[in-house]
Amino acid sequence: MTEERIEAMLAELSPAEKAGQLTQYFYFKLPGEVDPALGVDAGEQPRAVEAALGRGGVGSLLFVADPAETNRLQRLAIEGNPHGIPVLFGFDVIHGLRTIFPVPIAMAASWDPETIERGQAVAAREARAVGIHWTFAPMVDIARDPRWGRIIEGAGEDPFLGAAVAAAQVRGFQGGGIIAGPKHFAGYGASLGGRDYDEANISEYELWNTYLPPFRAAVEAGAGNIMTAYMDLNGVPASGSHWLLTKVLRDTWGFTGFVVSDANAVKSLETHGFAADPADAGARGVLAGVDLEMAVSEPAYDHLPGVPEAADAIDASVRRILAAKLRLGVLDEPYVDEDRAREILADPQHRAVAREAARRSAVLLRNEGDVLPLDAAALGSIAVLGPLADSRRDTIGPWVFDFDLDETVTVLDGIRRAAGDGVRVEYAQGIPVTQRVFPSMFDMFGGNRPADPDGFDPALELASAVDLAAASDVAIVVLGEYQNMIGESASRSSLELPGAQLELLQAVAATGTPTVLLVMNGRPLDLRWAAGHVPAILDVWYPGSQGGNAVADLLFGAAAPGGKLPFTWPRTAGQIPMFYGHTRSHEPQNQYRRYWDEESTPLFPFGHGLTYSTFEYANLSVSAGSAGVDDEVTVSVDVTNTGGREAPEVVQLYLHQRHGRASRPVRELKGFTRVVLAAGETRRVTFTVGPEQRRYWHAAVRDWVLDATTFDVWAGGSSTAELTTTFEVR
Ligand code: NOJ
Repeated sequence: MTEERIEAMLAELSPAEKAGQLTQYFYFKLPGEVDPALGVDAGEQPRAVEAALGRGGVGSLLFVADPAETNRLQRLAIEGNPHGIPVLFGFDVIHGLRTIFPVPIAMAASWDPETIERGQAVAAREARAVGIHWTFAPMVDIARDPRWGRIIEGAGEDPFLGAAVAAAQVRGFQGGGIIAGPKHFAGYGASLGGRDYDEANISEYELWNTYLPPFRAAVEAGAGNIMTAYMDLNGVPASGSHWLLTKVLRDTWGFTGFVVSDANAVKSLETHGFAADPADAGARGVLAGVDLEMAVSEPAYDHLPGVPEAADAIDASVRRILAAKLRLGVLDEPYVDEDRAREILADPQHRAVAREAARRSAVLLRNEGDVLPLDAAALGSIAVLGPLADSRRDTIGPWVFDFDLDETVTVLDGIRRAAGDGVRVEYAQGIPVTQRVFPSMFDMFGGNRPADPDGFDPALELASAVDLAAASDVAIVVLGEYQNMIGESASRSSLELPGAQLELLQAVAATGTPTVLLVMNGRPLDLRWAAGHVPAILDVWYPGSQGGNAVADLLFGAAAPGGKLPFTWPRTAGQIPMFYGHTRSHEPQNQYRRYWDEESTPLFPFGHGLTYSTFEYANLSVSAGSAGVDDEVTVSVDVTNTGGREAPEVVQLYLHQRHGRASRPVRELKGFTRVVLAAGETRRVTFTVGPEQRRYWHAAVRDWVLDATTFDVWAGGSSTAELTTTFEVR
């Protein structure tokens, strides 16, 4: 029935209409939404798209999130088009639509697939209500270079954690009613020097073992779409790579959904010096396996009717697009109920889920002398300092478009609400609002950061912030990067705190008032000074529209932090790339002198994160001291909450293969689970370590292999866990 319906529709389409089904246009409502760098007439673009809708020349639209608009444009497609095929609406629903969740790297730091799934299900519910059928998310690119701004959109450095987070997001989005589009296939996170869009040269060994696993997990979780990557991968643009898009994705993994190009990435096959001209770019795109071209104007796929050798590929792609529309119910129910959409967007339950997610994603990096949690009853006054403490726009982070700043709770708001009447909470900006040196491509969607007040005098402002700190019982300093300093097209050559932030922190700490540093970020920053001088450091990321409430919950102990770092936190940019899963050198004893001018260790290791209690690990055991290569073993460990209050802990399992056909990383994460234990409680946690966890891709064999060898196992609360045992594989 489904197939017959698709075949019947396909048979009616002219070659131009088929090309139309394979074209996705941006639709910009406001001229200001068009990036001038795109070289498009901002006034003309929407009219050109509407004309194309009327002649059946559009299969999908992106960037529309208003239900009245999705309905209006859908009507143009259906009524103007002789075959009445509705369009699919895609959108970057990255960490929420109206209810904004913590940024993706923060959600990954929860190490809690259920929280992640629940969050994306809320985002999907809001999106579907306004007429969005499909999100360009999750971004599952492994990132080992934090200079790359898009590290914020992913799950960090590790393929195992990355795969779990990818699958959870796919389940969340698709369970919530929209198609998930894992991106950017593949290797984008390895762009040279962390420079956005630069080429990636990744060995086959790294590609299979490190960069591809999250994509495979997303496909196995049933993702309906995949987005290509912009950059050249090993000399071939990823968006024109038949090997990636067909051989690996479809032939090896059995992906049956549709592939979309990144924006303009088919056309730019010509820019890359790969395709000869736009027609060649279109032909190469569709033959490589790009079903749908995402375009701003003049799509390369306009040329497809003139490429007879691509006829079969075109038909196959049109079938996939129609199948997606059919499966989602878009063909039968193309319009949305605008009143219902408003109700869903306002659902208070969504805010509650976002608040819980923000609580679970914060990472307590340091807490000397148990400065945190604060005892509100014992405090007379709190100084809240730094421009990020009171910036709604920064609190929700980048990659959001349909947010409501009026309902966004800043850290200052949250502390004021939670501190209670007896506590004096005062705010000082302390330093000037720092701007990015170059404007961001997303500034067109509004910075909305409070500007420096009239007559702002930096020296006076710093002095009054320091006075306020000195006169208060505790100083809470919120530092980091403004949200437009990170994200797409926002790579950096350094990890330093921008502007005068360190100066403010140092001056406040020098007052002797107990100081808490809250970091608002999406990448590790240079916190070397803070890590030696500021007793409490809580990484709150960009915590979303309920962020301030969640942060206050954590500061005052209504909730205990339990997040763990999803990346290795280097001391300085000079150590990049730095990740825990490296192999050993021939002189491992020298590992402490990798650089003569800097420690070889990171500032904080992968998997690190404290809480308001302490945990001990004991009785690590393996079900069998010796197992066959195809056998599973189970590894168990006792975890005890040895502190005085209930608290979360992420129990982590690491493996190391001692010898074999390749040298393998010193440690690899192969299991984790987030538990909450009462004070004094012990829980035995068990992990399965089967062939799937032990196999690796061998570059010379060009296949997955399993070695008969000895494995070291560690269990604990970070990648530096010490409790260890071994088992043999025969
Ligand atoms: C370009 C980005 O690389 C991609 O991640 C995003 O989904 C598209 N633009 C659409 O906004």
